[in-house]
Amino acid sequence: MNYYVMTLFPEMIEQGLHTSVIGRAIGKGILSLHCENIRDYTKEKHGHVDDYPYGGGAGMVMQAQPVYDCYQNICEKIGETGTGKPRVIYLTPQGKTFDQTMSRELAQEENLVFLCGHYEGIDERVLEMIVTDYVSIGDYVLTGGELPAMVMIDSISRNIPGVLNNDISAETESFSDGLLEYPQYTRPEEFMGQRVPDVLLSGHHANIERWRRNQSILRTYERRPDLFEEAVYDKKDMKFIREELGIQRVKHYIEKK
Ligand code: ADE
Repeated sequence: MNYYVMTLFPEMIEQGLHTSVIGRAIGKGILSLHCENIRDYTKEKHGHVDDYPYGGGAGMVMQAQPVYDCYQNICEKIGETGTGKPRVIYLTPQGKTFDQTMSRELAQEENLVFLCGHYEGIDERVLEMIVTDYVSIGDYVLTGGELPAMVMIDSISRNIPGVLNNDISAETESFSDGLLEYPQYTRPEEFMGQRVPDVLLSGHHANIERWRRNQSILRTYERRPDLFEEAVYDKKDMKFIREELGIQRVKHYIEKK
């Protein structure tokens, strides 16, 4: 996966993503990260990239020309490797809300371009010309698109083989089957009088698996009733749901998963 980020604050992205798991994956060559400073593409002699909004109003608007030229430069770079026009994601609270399904889907791309806005936004004309996806990371307003781009890059990268140490962990954790992850424990067996659940020390793999699945169900029911309702359950799940939660019917049921 090759990430291209169009931003006025490239150092923010570079610093944030060159550490830990993502930094290691970049080092290994599984991911590449190219931050382009939009300011480098301005044709104005004072280096301006923004101006007052036509029609009046508060704040400044990022101009079309530097954004467009920056995009062209990225396309040329990508074109050299022969993969055609990339998807361009504009980070905005007006976009579709980012989730794990979108994250997995975007992980299939070979190149992704992120456009980070600042000030009151970007001239609409260049957005219409280059943006393929409008994406929000949640219903709140941030000062720019850099943090959302970093959030998305972190999440998308976890779905790319080789980025996590063990490929299994991306599959068994929260959201992978529509449920939240079960609780985890490590040494010591007792901490401030609290013991690790006996089943986890039993070495009985089938029992451990059943206990974890039940904990996932319980946790999702308590913390995310919206996800609980949409998940798919089988016969063994239903036994637990009836006995523990007193719920007789669920929306999605299959005999055996
Ligand atoms: N830019 C400002 N706020 C944002 C948000 N919530 N999601 C994506 N981009 C943004």
